[in-house]
Amino acid sequence: TNSSSGRWKSKWRTFKYLALMVGAGTVSYGALTTYYRRHPIRQAEPDKTKKTLVILGTGWGATSLLKTLDTSLYNVVVVSPRNYFLFTPLLPSCTVGTIEHRSIMEPIRHITRHKQRAVHFYEASCTDIDPVNKIITVEDQSDIKGEISKSTISYDFLVVAVGAENNTFGIKGVTEHACFLKEIWDARRIRTKLMDCIETAAFPGQTNEEIERLLHMVVVGGGPTGVEYAGELHDFLVEDLIDWYPDLANKVKLTLVEAQPTVLPMFDRKLVEYTESTFQSHKINILTNSAVKEVSDKSITIETKDKERLDVPYGLLVWATGNTQRSLVRDLMTKLSSEQTSRRGLLVDEFLRVKGDSAIWALGDATFTRYAPLAQVANQQGQYLGKFFNKLGRLEAQQQQALLKALPADKENASSSTLGEDPSWPKMRTFHYSYQGSLAYIGADRAIADVPFFGTKVASGGFATYLFWKSAYASLLFNPRNQAMVLTDWTKKTIFGRDISRE
Ligand code: FAD
Ligand code: NAI
Repeated sequence: TNSSSGRWKSKWRTFKYLALMVGAGTVSYGALTTYYRRHPIRQAEPDKTKKTLVILGTGWGATSLLKTLDTSLYNVVVVSPRNYFLFTPLLPSCTVGTIEHRSIMEPIRHITRHKQRAVHFYEASCTDIDPVNKIITVEDQSDIKGEISKSTISYDFLVVAVGAENNTFGIKGVTEHACFLKEIWDARRIRTKLMDCIETAAFPGQTNEEIERLLHMVVVGGGPTGVEYAGELHDFLVEDLIDWYPDLANKVKLTLVEAQPTVLPMFDRKLVEYTESTFQSHKINILTNSAVKEVSDKSITIETKDKERLDVPYGLLVWATGNTQRSLVRDLMTKLSSEQTSRRGLLVDEFLRVKGDSAIWALGDATFTRYAPLAQVANQQGQYLGKFFNKLGRLEAQQQQALLKALPADKENASSSTLGEDPSWPKMRTFHYSYQGSLAYIGADRAIADVPFFGTKVASGGFATYLFWKSAYASLLFNPRNQAMVLTDWTKKTIFGRDISRE
């Protein structure tokens, strides 16, 4: 009996521990899901007495503005053809499946639904800005359109954060035959085409010449986009393709074409040399001083420094030669032509106000400033504008209150249009960009970094820099959901390898 009661006691103890663990697990699960799922709050309705602030875009600039903005001070409308924010620094990793594309997308409604006052988001492209009447035209350019797919929106203040588009320099055949690397669909297209080239090369009876062409992957542009893509492609080749396509993997050829004498001109000289020697050891062929002049469906024409022309057959062509302005921005520049004298982007003053219009602001890649077109610039500009609009909104609210007190009989007519026609701007320091350093992944678990350190720049490259690159981007990812997804992708890739199925 003693031993059986001892057994019962020990079972009871085990049961208690189990119950405790299950209880703790349930509570943590409940707490985590409640916290991280972040069920939307009840939001205040739009207020007619507030001014309408329209934000164009859901990229780096617009999203950081939206996050900083106190939406109780305005009626905020966001217009963008993309209903998500995209973490571009990890986009090259999506082209080969190191990271799955949804891991670097953040639905914009996850942000707008948590703002104090309701923010209207419209998935549409702004196709015209009328600065005289303060009206924008928006069009639904998605595949599915309703009966109404074009509309107008009035604004009191407008922020243009539409970024830029791929520069083709008008070179024949680029738009038709090359893949770009700017948006999520670009990365998916590259991944699909890459696998298609490989499977087509494996087709029975394929000629050697055709296999060679199909397996020649060409990247045009030795800026950070082209270099990072080439690095990712190299990893895919040596870590995965070699196992699944043993007969073809060693026939894959990778070429990076750059018009200038070196790749990555914005990086320290030592890092450029490090990247070039790393690429050479990875058998990535770098053609510098070589400009692509024409593109056809199966080959590109390269002109060397000595004006020699070469026809190079390719299977996959990735075009990464930088930015040019969107037509919306060009049209606006034409409308404000007396002040908009640059063709490279909107000119803004030190407060990011578009020159030639007092109700329009612009930031990020849509502008031409002394800063490079970088996510970190657009992000800081967005935060700056968020603070600016918060101050302006508070100032206007005070002025409105004062006016309402002064004119008790005229309360009804004291609408937003009569108030603050000429608002005295809040006191604000001019925008200054704080450089956080440049980082780029170059493949084979190596990265390069140019980082400011007590007034000097520290240039480093290698495996330790790669760990720094990884942790920097993992921590910069906007929220724990995306961080968890990216960390899972990295782990999955390490354990199981990349997915080679073609979408
Ligand atoms: P974007 O982020 O491009 O956002 C523009 C927004 O406007 C998008 O939501 C778009 O859908 C929307 N839009 C477009 N047309 C319209 C329209 N007509 N009406 C309304 N909305 C419109 N920078 C770094 O600092 N570090 C990096 O590591 C880095 N890596 C990069 C990697 C890649 C592959 C690429 C392509 C860029 C990288 N960049 C990096 C650069 C960085 O992504 C850009 O500088 C940054 O995105 C600019 O922000 P933005 O808000 O001006 O434009
Ligand atoms: P980029 O403008 O930095 O580089 C484009 C390159 O293409 C240039 O070196 C140019 O000489 C070359 N080129 C142009 N036409 C050519 C032709 N016909 N043939 C051959 N070469 C040609 O463009 P990228 O890399 O797309 O970057 C755009 C912006 O995004 C830059 O400001 C860049 O700094 C930023 N970015 C930053 C990253 C990072 O910090 N890790 C990663 C990716 C982009």
